[in-house]
Amino acid sequence: MAIEEDPKQKKQCEILEDLPGVGPATAQRLKELGFNTVESLATATVKELEAAGIGEKKALEVVRAARGGMELSFIHADELLKMREKILRLSTGSKAIDALLEGGLETQTITEFYGEFGSGKSQICHQLCVNAQLPRERGGLAGGALYIDTENTFRTERVIKMAEHLGLDPNEVIKNIIFAEAYNSDHQILLLNNADKIIKENNIRLIIVDSLTAHFRSEYLGREMLAERQQKLNKHMHKLIRLSQAFNAVAVVTNQVMAKPDVFFGDAIHPIGGHIVAHTSHTRFYLRKSSRGPLRIARLESSPALPEGEAVFKVTVNGIEDLTEDDELEGRRKR
Ligand SMILES: Nc1ncnc2c1ncn2[C@@H]1O[C@H](COP(=O)(O)OP(=O)(O)O)[C@@H](O)[C@H]1O
Ligand SMILES: [Mg+2]
Repeated sequence: MAIEEDPKQKKQCEILEDLPGVGPATAQRLKELGFNTVESLATATVKELEAAGIGEKKALEVVRAARGGMELSFIHADELLKMREKILRLSTGSKAIDALLEGGLETQTITEFYGEFGSGKSQICHQLCVNAQLPRERGGLAGGALYIDTENTFRTERVIKMAEHLGLDPNEVIKNIIFAEAYNSDHQILLLNNADKIIKENNIRLIIVDSLTAHFRSEYLGREMLAERQQKLNKHMHKLIRLSQAFNAVAVVTNQVMAKPDVFFGDAIHPIGGHIVAHTSHTRFYLRKSSRGPLRIARLESSPALPEGEAVFKVTVNGIEDLTEDDELEGRRKR
């Protein structure tokens, strides 16, 4: 039996109070926990609801009802394939990067871009906010974007430039981007935990956390705080995965790097966040600057089903672009 939702049940359960066993008091408690929609509740865990003082039995009942009255169960791989057909792809604006991904960033999983300051992480995030609004046949998701900014680097002016370059109405484009600045890691967690209603009401198909790790890195110092930091990061990323699944959205996080001394090869560059971030990001890119001005190199380091590879792209006034023939020629001359 597949996890297909019963359409009748789904129709009845538009809001939390429609779910069997959910009265106004329970609905209020669920909302306080950040579960404002039936969709987000469908990917909740019983433990999370218990934290709000909802008994285990009731929690199980509520989550099951939100899933459309069906229990999650084992399915055949061909059904899994059918579920994967729902996955959409979002173009990065660079054909070279899209080719590494066989089309673009996938919905329902997290894609991570890590790299040094100025390597183009935030520029890619800006471009994705615009691209998400393109129709499907142009590599978009025909939806809006949610941008959680922790470093105060989001610039509406950049989005306007990129939108104009793609022939979109910039005023429309900026209206479809919901922006929030996170002041510290707790605020960042809170914003995401309460994002479900905004995502649903605004047809959000792209959720960005830029940067995922900056606040955590500066607030949790020293070894004794590491375990707590990792635990919080883990929960935060899982919330992000579940939102991306519930709303068939692309999730993107950026990450900084640190240099670790390496015995044989000098300093090696490592992304922040250790195993937790590495294993929770399904697709991981390492971005670096090249010696040639606006050119950047994106290395696909890990993906569940694609080989590693590298692509060269450009950050220009128009956004993320592919190299021109002249760029390629110049590159060959320099080699
Ligand atoms: N308007 C622009 N025109 C051309 N290049 C730009 C423009 N804005 C930013 N860039 C390029 O993007 C770089 C910043 O990239 P960014 O994505 O902010 O880096 P980070 O990886 O730190 O997030 C700048 O150093 C510059 O090379
Ligand atoms: Mg940045």
